[in-house]
Amino acid sequence: MQPKHPKESRTILTDLVLPSETNPLNNLFGGELLARMDRAASIAARRHSRRIVVTASVNHVAFKKMIPLGSVVTVEANLSRAFKSSMEVVIDVWVEDRESGLRSKANDAIYTFVAVDDSGNPVPVPPIEPESADEKERFDAALRRKQLSLVLAGKMKPSEATELKALFED
Ligand SMILES: CC(C)(COP(=O)(O)OP(=O)(O)OC[C@H]1O[C@@H](n2cnc3c(N)ncnc32)[C@H](O)[C@@H]1OP(=O)(O)O)[C@@H](O)C(=O)NCCC(=O)NCCS
Repeated sequence: MQPKHPKESRTILTDLVLPSETNPLNNLFGGELLARMDRAASIAARRHSRRIVVTASVNHVAFKKMIPLGSVVTVEANLSRAFKSSMEVVIDVWVEDRESGLRSKANDAIYTFVAVDDSGNPVPVPPIEPESADEKERFDAALRRKQLSLVLAGKMKPSEATELKALFED
């Protein structure tokens, strides 16, 4: 399969925070943000693979900053790496200042999706060809994160996680 660049599947969703989406402190409810990130990331994975995709794991979520009612929130999803049937998607969340229009980073997360056929069986996806230095760094680190996710899910023995072990051997 022909490799694809991350920009070919990049997905950007911008939306407001409405009252029904907030917690008692009038900030965006965490579950709503998870759903928005899942939506953007699944579109990116679908654009890359042109297949049905399912969320296999949520590997990392950091809620760094509260997002107040009325904020304009942008969720950007970029594929960092594709393996055989799985794809890692890195998500960055930005909040726009009403007066200046400047964006500040509020959250980030890493999700893994698997491309499947109509019966839900995993199918191969095209590889990713990173271009920028940032994309190359994310590409290299993705294998370690995949191994960590599989170890935590009980799908890989820690002794088989060679990339992960190498981190601790220096
Ligand atoms: C995700 C799913 C398709 C994986 O199926 P499976 O039988 O475990 O298939 P495999 O073991 O062949 O794994 C398929 C790929 O998923 C990856 N994978 C599976 N579990 C993973 C996890 N926890 N973290 C990261 N990758 C994972 C495997 O490494 C493999 O990747 P590769 O083909 O790129 O090497 C299956 O578990 C499923 O359908 N889960 C439900 C998905 C869903 O409903 N999501 C919505 C959440 S509410």
